[in-house]
Amino acid sequence: MNSKFRYLAAVGLMVVTTPSACFAQGDIVIADFEGANYGTWKVEGTAFGAGPAKGSLPNQMSVEGFSGKGLANSYVGGDDSKGKLTLPPFAIERKFINFKIGGGKSEQLGIRLLVEGKTVRSATGTNERPGGSEALQWTNWDVSEFKGKSATLEIFDDKTGGWGHISVDNIIQSDTAKTVIPREREIVATEPWLLLPVKNGAPKRTIAVSVGGKELRNFNMELADGEPDWWARLDLSLWKGQKVLIKTSALPDDSKGLDQMYQSATMPDAATAYKEALRGQLRFSPRLGWLNDPNGMVYSQGEYHLYFQANPFGWAWDNMHWGHAVSPDMVHWTELPVAIYPHSAGDMVFSGSAIVDKNNTSGWKKGPNDLIVAAYTSTGRGECIAYSTDKGRTFTDFENNPVIKHKGEGRDPRLLWHEPTKQWVLVVWSQDDSWPVPSERGGIDFYTSPDLKKWTYQSRVGGYFECADLFELPLENGTKKWVLTAASSEYRIGTFDGKKFVPETPKLPGMQGRDYYAAQTFSHEPKGRYVQIGWFRTETRGMPFNQAMSIPSELKLKTTPEGPRLTWTPVPELESLRTQTHTLGAQSVFETGPNPLAGIKGDLFEIRAEFEPGTANNITFDVRGVPVSYNAAKSEISVGGFHASAPLQGGKQRLTIYVDRTGIEVYASDGLTFVPFNTNLKADDLDWGLTVTGGTAKFSKLDVYNLSSSWKTGAK
Ligand code: FRU
Repeated sequence: MNSKFRYLAAVGLMVVTTPSACFAQGDIVIADFEGANYGTWKVEGTAFGAGPAKGSLPNQMSVEGFSGKGLANSYVGGDDSKGKLTLPPFAIERKFINFKIGGGKSEQLGIRLLVEGKTVRSATGTNERPGGSEALQWTNWDVSEFKGKSATLEIFDDKTGGWGHISVDNIIQSDTAKTVIPREREIVATEPWLLLPVKNGAPKRTIAVSVGGKELRNFNMELADGEPDWWARLDLSLWKGQKVLIKTSALPDDSKGLDQMYQSATMPDAATAYKEALRGQLRFSPRLGWLNDPNGMVYSQGEYHLYFQANPFGWAWDNMHWGHAVSPDMVHWTELPVAIYPHSAGDMVFSGSAIVDKNNTSGWKKGPNDLIVAAYTSTGRGECIAYSTDKGRTFTDFENNPVIKHKGEGRDPRLLWHEPTKQWVLVVWSQDDSWPVPSERGGIDFYTSPDLKKWTYQSRVGGYFECADLFELPLENGTKKWVLTAASSEYRIGTFDGKKFVPETPKLPGMQGRDYYAAQTFSHEPKGRYVQIGWFRTETRGMPFNQAMSIPSELKLKTTPEGPRLTWTPVPELESLRTQTHTLGAQSVFETGPNPLAGIKGDLFEIRAEFEPGTANNITFDVRGVPVSYNAAKSEISVGGFHASAPLQGGKQRLTIYVDRTGIEVYASDGLTFVPFNTNLKADDLDWGLTVTGGTAKFSKLDVYNLSSSWKTGAK
């Protein structure tokens, strides 16, 4: 069959299927809209264009559920265009006329069947986008009473404005009625997980999960109609022994997406979990699915909690939940089940923070555990509060949520206790387009509360964007200063009286690397440290997970000739990963000299170096093919070609470099310069080198450590 529109009217009927029905005659395809034009259909107006559409048209929401590549779609020129397709007379020869239809619901649009010039049947769309896309659904007319008669068909669009378009495909005469294929399955939850097949890049479907007639989960996923790339999992453990109804939005007729879901206590990739080629070994990443910002970082009862923006059902950003992991030391992480689920369809759980309400100011404490209280952004409601009495495993939403609603956009609440005024503080980004100074329309708002429930607006500092953090740090002389920072890691130092932040510095650059974002510090760190973890934006294609966290760094304030500045220092807990130590000792390294690191190999390692550049121009560590170089003339460090200022401290450069499979963290100038750098290191380049150009550099320390993986084996 050539590309021409395969219209088969009375002249040349094509029998496409002979299904099992014993005496049923084969189906007759009236139109499948697979050709370049509409063939014998008469085209009037502009709405249907000159030929069938290939799926969605420009500016149209996604259209799904049609077969093959083409369909009749009246969105040409948008909703306001009008038009009609008329099929010349054909004979009605079967009991049913089946077709797929979607788009607007109106008497002014649809498809109609005319017999002897009179409309005898008609149908229109649904005004619905199940799962965010307009799905064409099977419909049928019983036309047995007209058998043998001549008829015509019209697909028409006389409607302008919203939903002023219709889509039709697969018009088929048949002795069997095609109806919407039920896309639901009921299971009895027996195993901990329902495994869901994912095909990266496949059209998104909606999955709705109900228990006891109540919809409890609703998410989008790239459901694999055939062979999956990987399996996601839905936690069934809460519903053990109960009936669980799983419904999907429209799927292609032959999709196995729903049928191939199965229950299990183990994942098919358990043997390779956490050992994948692009799995960072020194840092947290989700076992499956997508991660972005760290959330709710809080220490309680021996555990560091790391919640995180998670899409458990896809490789890319969507369906934001709060994933959850715990660690005794911020280095070795164990992932736990999702802690906060979206409240309802499309109401996602965006970033936020957590604290322990030690004095039970909220009154929510029950039992012996710490009362952990989280603040998060609900995309449908505003800033919300939730609390946990089971060591942060599950959260109860505060019944009077939202506690704060912004005029415009706003998100990512950061909670803290302000001891001098004995009250809670919430800092949160919002966009206020009525603010007089344009550069300050994005800013951080300060609210206070006695009980975490009622919040009072106090003040605002302009010139910031999402994911605020606020903490107090001492200078070397013991004077304490407040630091206000946000997602980009830029910060200001100033004073804070519990209500108002008064900056004493301009905005200062924070970390100087790439792809470190939305960092947050732990609340109640037991040693009183402010330890920061950022979203380390690695891209791990081909893996069943994507993105990772940075390693933890302690933040401190340091006095410099320019004023106080933040420093980043990797936490000493990371030293527990060291396996082999190479203490290479004080030495001079010169241009024509040997490579002091020759013979040392490995994929995970830490370098600690201290040197005076002397007469050298460049001192370069070759980190498995990525150059980390100090340029003496420019007082600059470059990591994989990315440059950052790195002044000597007391005539010396001190460098700490952590090397993982998907990136490098470089600390220079005693932590004043922090360069997180993501790059997928070559698996076959395990060599390390140190070269110097231009003269001789004098190393007072050169220590290299092989590191082990922080992951425990035995994943399910
Ligand atoms: C930052 C951010 C936050 C938001 C979250 C959504 O990366 O955009 O502002 O809460 O991600 O996932």
